Amino acid sequence: MQKELNKIFQDCLNHLKEATSNKSNFHLPVIGSINENEVELRTVVLRDFNENNNTLVFYTDFRSPKIDQIKNNPTVSFMFYDGVLKEQLRIKTKSTIHHHDDISLKYWEKIKPENRRDYAAKQSPSSASIDFSTYLEEDWINHTEDFYQNFAVVYNEILEIDWLIINKELNKRARFFIQKSGFIGEWLTP
Ligand SMILES: Cc1cc2nc3c(=O)[nH]c(=O)nc-3n(C[C@H](O)[C@H](O)[C@H](O)COP(=O)(O)O)c2cc1C
Repeated sequence: MQKELNKIFQDCLNHLKEATSNKSNFHLPVIGSINENEVELRTVVLRDFNENNNTLVFYTDFRSPKIDQIKNNPTVSFMFYDGVLKEQLRIKTKSTIHHHDDISLKYWEKIKPENRRDYAAKQSPSSASIDFSTYLEEDWINHTEDFYQNFAVVYNEILEIDWLIINKELNKRARFFIQKSGFIGEWLTP
């Protein structure tokens, strides 16, 4: 890869590594999945980035609608934007759902009991709710292990990164896409 493109690619990977911290402006990407003929977008927390297999990781409730959407079509897109750096990363991925396996267990064990509330809803996320104040299981904090069954980890293997920086002098844009030999980079018109 040309030297400048290679430097931008390595910077993208570093941004993704840093984005697992809540100090990064890239920490809360928007992800898009396909629901029949419609695009569905939502914010998630970037929980991990595995550089060995270029995989972005987020957690979700196994009962949430996005799980079925990803099962039906594992093409998931991420959109990251840092308003200070003025950099946008649009990333296409192929996703795999981990539920009740070694990977989901490894991540579950890292979650503090009080943070397991996200998986303690009585009903599926996005289902109709009569009263917002009663959506959690009774006394959930004292039996958080029960909610492991609702916990899913989604692995998203990067296929393509579209990088854009908005500069006063000149905007710059590049695309990096995976081939058998590794990532190939090319400039795009911004
Ligand atoms: C700041 C923020 C972070 C969020 N993080 C997650 C997350 O990591 N995983 C998740 O499933 N939903 C997360 N959500 C909620 C989703 O945006 C979405 O409302 C929910 O997952 C239901 O989506 P679905 O109906 O498309 O499955 C977050 C929302 C906000 C505002």
